[in-house]
Amino acid sequence: MKLLNTRRRAAAGIATVSLTAAALAGTVVVTGANGADPTTFSGVVLGVGADETARTVAWYSSATPTGATVELSTTSDFATTKTFDATVASNVTSDAATGNALTSANGKATLTGLQPSTKYYYRIKTADGAKSAYYTFKTGTFGNGGYQFLFFGDPQIGSSGDPVLDGDGWQYTLDQTKIHSPKAELYVSGGDQVNTANNETEWTQFLRPSELRSIPWAATIGNHDVSGYAYEQHFALPSTIDRSDPLYTNAAKKGPAADAVSGGDYFFTYKGVLFIDLNSNAYSATTNSDPAHVEFVRNTITRQKAADPDIKHVVLVYHHAIYSPADHANDTDNIQRRTDFTKSFSDLGVDLVLQGHDHSYSRSYAIKGSAESPSGAKANAAEQPGQTTVVEGPGGVIYVTANSASGSKFYDLTEPDATKGGYGADTLKGGPETKGHTRHWANSVENQEHVPTYIEVSVTDKGLTVKNVRSGDGDSPNAAVQRGNVTGIGPNLAGTPAPIGSLVDQVHIYRSQADVPVVKPPTKPTVHLVGAAPKVNGTARVGKRLTVTAGHWTAGTKLTYQWLADGKPIKGATGTSLKLTKKLKGKKVSVRVTGSLAGAVPSSLVKTSGVKKVK
Ligand SMILES: [Fe+2]
Repeated sequence: MKLLNTRRRAAAGIATVSLTAAALAGTVVVTGANGADPTTFSGVVLGVGADETARTVAWYSSATPTGATVELSTTSDFATTKTFDATVASNVTSDAATGNALTSANGKATLTGLQPSTKYYYRIKTADGAKSAYYTFKTGTFGNGGYQFLFFGDPQIGSSGDPVLDGDGWQYTLDQTKIHSPKAELYVSGGDQVNTANNETEWTQFLRPSELRSIPWAATIGNHDVSGYAYEQHFALPSTIDRSDPLYTNAAKKGPAADAVSGGDYFFTYKGVLFIDLNSNAYSATTNSDPAHVEFVRNTITRQKAADPDIKHVVLVYHHAIYSPADHANDTDNIQRRTDFTKSFSDLGVDLVLQGHDHSYSRSYAIKGSAESPSGAKANAAEQPGQTTVVEGPGGVIYVTANSASGSKFYDLTEPDATKGGYGADTLKGGPETKGHTRHWANSVENQEHVPTYIEVSVTDKGLTVKNVRSGDGDSPNAAVQRGNVTGIGPNLAGTPAPIGSLVDQVHIYRSQADVPVVKPPTKPTVHLVGAAPKVNGTARVGKRLTVTAGHWTAGTKLTYQWLADGKPIKGATGTSLKLTKKLKGKKVSVRVTGSLAGAVPSSLVKTSGVKKVK
């Protein structure tokens, strides 16, 4: 096991970030005007807006200032700025790390009217003159498709027992995405940002990476985030959030009270993709919530597709995986969700479902729910394990469960048990699953190597390409392994991790066969003679020597020669010249040139020169 250099690698990763240490943590202290107490801004995080032309910003401030705004500029001197009003509210939670009530506030603002392919600078400002450091983000092009987003499973900072080490692993993964997925424009959460809902030590570690201030984070609520109000204090979710009672685990406790729960469903569009994010903590068995989620999905798809015909793909995001490979595969609540969701998601034309909670990786076959199989069945019985191009067809949906993105906690793959919700074994053997393990019937690929990974999704008008990318290699921060919470690392847990940036899995997903790009067979080279045919040179007289000019052939062509007398081969005359003997007197001499090229179709071409009569 290669873990000796972990601290060195972690430190080096942090040192490569160019922002100051304070800005890195999203924490800046600025003295206010007129000698007022310094105002501290912390936990600054960029979020998604309603579409690609908007972003949200959220932060904590040490006091509850008046007149808070966010300034947005295209230059670092903020010479020309647009100003967006912020809402500021007092924090109501007690810090679960200390037991002390927070005396701070949370601010939120929405930045709109962004232009494509533009670098923006932003900072928080209050009426008393206090300013945060500035941060930057870039917008991409605004056409449909042609971009990447990344999906992260359960950073769950604090779950290893060492929140700082978990934060190191989280920081390390985001740093690797800048190297291996540098074009990503958007981060999507699989939930469980932290281990304990209102633990601000864990939130500080989660929000430490500077990437969270330059790439928008589409927050998803996990079971570890839900039981307090810190999640809602920390994130500015898009205005499209629905906070209806059934979308909460406990409607009586929603809202800004000290013991409130967080929740709600929301959506946003981003360059041709409709993202719908559900609070899966609320489900039927307790609050009759699943029908409310389905209704939210139905209304959102219907309304948004009618309003925006450019929507090409529908991606659902929620925390509790309904098809997954490990500890939570057979949880009774997930069995319930399999029953409640699968047919509806098929009927509504969902393309891809991104899930967390099981801290391991799976990619399902195209799954279709129907009246006969409300909990789902393979849409195409012929789909093979690990198949790299999948046509979903009507009703087919791919479900992806993300592994831990931080290394704070891994769950090992479990063996299928058909007695639990019918989630038994796949009858198809083979595929890239971990050796000795049998996949659950829904899953084309299952994997756990005890290294952090993240999901990269490339979007085109026609389809989605999903990759599971390794972001740790055993020398990188890996709290679960370092603290001995799990043992074994690398493919088959055999002790040799694969390189960072290598792929666990890759699949190209299309709705119909017509969307699959036609791959032209590689063009085979052909043998060509460019220009004039071979030519015989010299005086055709006994005792003289003739030579051949073969001409210009396709590069790499190998030429062979056969001299002819009256059209018949002269034995042994296979060079580039011919000595004219008495026997050839009166004969018509020519040369046949054969060009051969390996791999060409056809592989050879024959050309014969004109004749010369030997005197
Ligand atoms: Fe989790």
